[in-house]
Amino acid sequence: VEITHVCVLGGSGFIGRHLCQQLTAQGYSVTVPTRNRERAKSLILLPTVDVVTANVHDPVDLAEVLRPADAVINLIGVLHDGSGPGSFRAAHVELARKVIAECRRRHCRLVHMSALNADPRGPSEYLRTKAEAEKLVADSGLDATILRPSVVFGREDRFLNLFARLLRMLPVLPLGSPGARFQPVYVEDVAAAFVFSLRDPQTIGRSYDLCGPTVYTLQELVEYVGRITGHPRPVLGLSDRLSLLQAAAMELLPIKVITRDNYYSMKVDSVCKGAFPFGIKPTPLEAVAPRWLARSGPRARYPRLRDHAGR
Ligand SMILES: NC(=O)c1ccc[n+]([C@@H]2O[C@H](COP(=O)([O-])OP(=O)(O)OC[C@H]3O[C@@H](n4cnc5c(N)ncnc54)[C@H](OP(=O)(O)O)[C@@H]3O)[C@@H](O)[C@H]2O)c1
Repeated sequence: VEITHVCVLGGSGFIGRHLCQQLTAQGYSVTVPTRNRERAKSLILLPTVDVVTANVHDPVDLAEVLRPADAVINLIGVLHDGSGPGSFRAAHVELARKVIAECRRRHCRLVHMSALNADPRGPSEYLRTKAEAEKLVADSGLDATILRPSVVFGREDRFLNLFARLLRMLPVLPLGSPGARFQPVYVEDVAAAFVFSLRDPQTIGRSYDLCGPTVYTLQELVEYVGRITGHPRPVLGLSDRLSLLQAAAMELLPIKVITRDNYYSMKVDSVCKGAFPFGIKPTPLEAVAPRWLARSGPRARYPRLRDHAGR
């Protein structure tokens, strides 16, 4: 069956917005449910995207938003365990179960967002619940594909931008888990991988790890952000013990930046064994990040201008 209408759960988020843009550019009709239409503002401007307010945890609402779709992309996930529908269990496992049930009824194609290192015996609840959802999807009997990115970067990410903000505010940055290794992947490449999976029936029944071209330690990434933003502060790598203590202390803040669960996730290197799939050549961080990171201060103009000039 040809796919023409895609429902993107979590389409209002960081990765979802880029994915919806690519889907509409390729002629798909898209439905995006959201809890809050205000947050999905930028999507409303896209020509073939229908943004609807819905509670996707309610099977009646879910059936309604999936009704016009021949395919579902499920991007819903949380980085910090919340309460009720915001818990790891509700957002990752129970919701995946409901999406699968509805998809079975309607025979739709499913592309499911997981995370690199999702593992039932993984070190964090984030990775364990992501693995539980993967198993539900794999055992569902549906035409399904699973994608597992390392940390994703892009203009509105919460990764490099977080460090950019901290480096601006602090004279010295005490960094937890400085030796944790990542292979950051560009949001446009992740979005392209979803569109490719949707198109290519060969991806059915398979799962793919998604990484960028380069492996960095967290400390290297933070130092890079410092150089590009013009705030090259000393980065003080904390010991393992202090990293856990820092995460535990930060967990008490009203705004969640890092939790102990995040610290445990970083116990496994977020790196890929193979190359990026689908013939896509992943974008190097250094080729695009200066576009949005180097924006304040007089010196910041240079990398940005160089970037524009393609040098
Ligand atoms: N960003 C990364 O580095 C990264 C790396 C690996 C995997 N992932 C996975 O990729 C997915 C998307 O990540 P993202 O960075 O784009 O996240 P995001 O910006 O936080 O977007 C998540 C979207 O899901 C919806 N959502 C969140 N919690 C929900 C809940 N409890 N119930 C219903 N809807 C909820 C939100 O929609 P509304 O607020 O509009 O309702 C939001 O637009 C997640 O599953 C994440 O685990 C991300």
